[in-house]
Amino acid sequence: MGWRMPRRHIGLLTLTTAVLLGLLVPPLRAQAPGAEALWRQMFARPEVPPAPTDNPLTPETIALGAALFADPRLSSTGRHACTSCHQPARSFTDGRRAAQAPSSGAPLARNTPALWNLAWSPQLFWDGRAPSLEEQVKGPIEAPNEMGGDWPTILRRLEADAGLLAQVRIAFPLEPAVSEATVVKALASYVRSLVSPPTRFDAWIAGDARALKPAEAAGFRLFTGKAGCLLCHAGWRFTDDRFHDIGLGGKDPGRAAVPDGTPGRRAFKTPSLREAMHTAPYMHDGSLPTLAAVLRHYASGFRSRPTLAPHMNRRLRLTLKERADLIAFLRTLSSEQAAPRSKPGAAPR
Ligand code: HEC
Ligand code: HEC
Repeated sequence: MGWRMPRRHIGLLTLTTAVLLGLLVPPLRAQAPGAEALWRQMFARPEVPPAPTDNPLTPETIALGAALFADPRLSSTGRHACTSCHQPARSFTDGRRAAQAPSSGAPLARNTPALWNLAWSPQLFWDGRAPSLEEQVKGPIEAPNEMGGDWPTILRRLEADAGLLAQVRIAFPLEPAVSEATVVKALASYVRSLVSPPTRFDAWIAGDARALKPAEAAGFRLFTGKAGCLLCHAGWRFTDDRFHDIGLGGKDPGRAAVPDGTPGRRAFKTPSLREAMHTAPYMHDGSLPTLAAVLRHYASGFRSRPTLAPHMNRRLRLTLKERADLIAFLRTLSSEQAAPRSKPGAAPR
């Protein structure tokens, strides 16, 4: 089976058309054949995650990566792993406002993001400073306030493990050694394989009109229409993969501090909204504890400043019923359980 290229983000024009449709088409006619086909196209799920040619996804690299993801030998203390912060039972978050440095317990600058659907994310971290998962996973291993690992120690520990060595040889027959490269590739493969499971929303979009309750469908119309959320949270992952200033407080420069970023604009990556029911608190700073707080933010709770994203609705007002409907809709993008038994990686052989 051939690799699919990452889907390009949908052009602003299509989006604008879709939002206008949502605004102008009265609820009863929102499911008119034309609109339905457009939504189906916009929210279509790809079958397999894309992977770079020099690190193809295989069940063996994913399994090795899953083991390393939970392996404390990657940290300086030998007691902390990726799972210390990205806890599978919490949808790969930690439930904290800001992540906690394993060694000192001190709060880090940012909130621990969920790790769903990053195979399609062209830039990693809240500020997009890493261009690939292979680049990204080195960050937390080496960062002194995260795992603080050093490669010679890590590799010595891992090489002493015959079982792991055998697993590496099977996963990487062309470079059959425990090395920084194979450890990084395996971890990147595992993260790449984390695809959020289909939910009731996907069944509804595919044509099962009864998969959503009326309040949830009303929430979808608000999301794609009046509330304008679709302008940034677009496509089946509900992100445009871009960076915006949505008017949060704090001093974090975000993308303004990244070379080739957005000078002077405190912009952050639009997160996917899949599984969001299980990933509170929200935003790069974890400052919004609930989805209700998120809606209060968008409905004029944000700071108005010149760098605010132009397509933030400056005058959004939402009634209590509209807020309830929007939250009901957002819940349909999440699994019932926080730790969906996702078969890691729909990886082809
Ligand atoms: C101390 C807690 C902590 C540990 C341990 C940790 N992470 Fe993270 N992770 C974070 C935080 C916080 C961020 C966001 C940082 C930022 O954006 O500047 C993040 C971001 C990420 C991202 C980018 C997500 C996105 O949406 O762009 C990936 C991928 C990731 N971590 C994978 C890993 C892997 C793999 C490991 C183990 C090698 C790991 N993390 C260990 C806290 C942690
Ligand atoms: C201008 C683009 C834009 C619009 C419009 C927008 N968002 Fe966002 N959204 C973002 C960005 C960017 C972030 C992350 C901001 C940050 O952390 O600094 C975000 C974060 C979120 C989060 C938190 C996710 C998480 O994992 O932390 C939720 C939930 C959310 N938005 C829902 C909505 C809803 C609902 C609407 C419509 C009322 C909406 N957004 C409109 C860009 C947008």
